[in-house]
Amino acid sequence: MNQSSSITNPLREGINARGAPEPCVLVIFGATGDLTKRKLVPALYNLAHEGQLPASFAIVGFARSERDEAAFRAELCDWVKKKSRFSPVNDSVLDAMASRIFFQQGRYDDPQAYQALASRLNQIDKDLGTAWHRLFYIATPPSEFPVISEQLGANGLVTRPQPGSTEPPLQRVIVEKPFGHSLETARELNAVLTRVFDERQILRIDHYLGKETVQNIMVLRFANEIFEPLWNAKYVDHVQITVAESLGVEGRGGYYEGAGAMRDMLQNHMMQLLALVAMEPPTSLEPEGIRDEKVKVLRAIRPIASDRACGCSLRGQYARGSMMGQEVPGYLDEKGVARDSLTETYVALKLHIDNWRWAGVPFYLRTGKRLPKQTAEIAIQFKAPPAVLFAAQSNRRAATTLQPNVLVLRIQPDEGISIRMNAKVPGTALNIQPVKMDFDYGGTFGARSPDAYERLLFDAINGDSTLFIRGDETEHAWSIVDAVLQGWKNDPQGAPAYPYESGTWGPPEADEFIRRDGREWRRT
Ligand SMILES: NC(=O)c1ccc[n+]([C@@H]2O[C@H](COP(=O)([O-])OP(=O)(O)OC[C@H]3O[C@@H](n4cnc5c(N)ncnc54)[C@H](OP(=O)(O)O)[C@@H]3O)[C@@H](O)[C@H]2O)c1
Repeated sequence: MNQSSSITNPLREGINARGAPEPCVLVIFGATGDLTKRKLVPALYNLAHEGQLPASFAIVGFARSERDEAAFRAELCDWVKKKSRFSPVNDSVLDAMASRIFFQQGRYDDPQAYQALASRLNQIDKDLGTAWHRLFYIATPPSEFPVISEQLGANGLVTRPQPGSTEPPLQRVIVEKPFGHSLETARELNAVLTRVFDERQILRIDHYLGKETVQNIMVLRFANEIFEPLWNAKYVDHVQITVAESLGVEGRGGYYEGAGAMRDMLQNHMMQLLALVAMEPPTSLEPEGIRDEKVKVLRAIRPIASDRACGCSLRGQYARGSMMGQEVPGYLDEKGVARDSLTETYVALKLHIDNWRWAGVPFYLRTGKRLPKQTAEIAIQFKAPPAVLFAAQSNRRAATTLQPNVLVLRIQPDEGISIRMNAKVPGTALNIQPVKMDFDYGGTFGARSPDAYERLLFDAINGDSTLFIRGDETEHAWSIVDAVLQGWKNDPQGAPAYPYESGTWGPPEADEFIRRDGREWRRT
């Protein structure tokens, strides 16, 4: 460790306009796992590459597996080379980062392991001047979240801020999704975490919030005068939020059986998208102001009585089919899946937000696996203009092609925004055709957008909790999702898991689900 403290640190070079962040040690629990290798450490390298890490920064990996520290560093460096958005990597930046990567072996429930961790952290504090600034990242399966939190508290690794203190907390904890499995377990998890940490110290991560387009929702809405006056029930017909995956469960059938699309996608990512698109303007960009507005929206979602759940939701399950010319098995044939499983790999849900702005505007959410492509978007469909003017023309085609305007926020891939509008086709006849105005991030701003984890880790290191989820947000989102899951459980006949062929846009019944409201799913 002394050796590392004496290194001239190239991480400081090119520190950006946002200023030098505080010294900090990041402790990752579950550091031998997939998330650490593929996402976290490459994202940290990218920050280092751009000079956005603190000059004094170290990473301590904690896991049960035995690892030689040098081998652990080498393995992580290999992953950085594979996954960094900078290619080739800058060797001096990577070497400097690697020299400050440490490994602590131990069981997650063993107090002695935490005492050893504390000694190591104290030593790093002495060597690097990190002064108790610690970020604990719990990147293990959720079963370990409570015990790690408790052990951190019991072994004196966490200082709670004084009540009413406005000082930034010295330690914070980042918790990965899933935040519970139901409303009840989410409450339990929140209770466990808040026994040790103050809510201000808890950063619940949802990587969707780190995506550029998601952050751009607020800018689009509140930094442009033209959209906000139209952003309400007077002009908006409905909103569609789609998260489509082309992958199946990819060998993780055992995990997925206990989750399903509702828990895996809808409760977290999609409810966050809904909250951002529907919230009122916050009074400031302070984290609490924004999160308060999101909570108000989630609270305004019309409660779903379990006996009405089947009417406002639909579940489906992929059957065998063909993806990119390759035969793929159905969900029920996947390893770890019960032959009579009702777990949904597709869900469609209709929600209403009972407030002044959104009264009467349905929000349709749909997500599924093995759909034709990987895509996520929010589509705001405006009401159709009165057709009287063009319908009055003798040209009947003009009337039939008059389509409502749609504003689409593309979250992935090809992040961007487009607007569908009607235009006259050149020529002597009055033919009207929908056209698209398109803005795409890559084309306009050139550089590849930072990975979501990069942005979120930067904010966590800098103590900015805006893009993290507050405990009450998770609970409100769960209360909606729980009611639907309960309704399905109470009435499995009323909520069959409709099969759909892999590579199609979900079960035919899902088309009927929206068609009975006189609407269509967008073909994204
Ligand atoms: N991977 C992703 O891209 C991704 C994306 C979003 C969210 N997440 C979330 O991030 C967390 C970590 O994900 P991950 O993919 O890195 O998980 P993982 O590879 O399955 O597990 C991470 C590490 O946790 C440790 N561990 C502790 N208890 C365990 C147990 N009962 N079973 C298995 N491993 C256990 C293992 O290390 P030792 O045995 O060495 O202690 C393992 O290497 C999860 O909560 C996941 O839901 C992951």
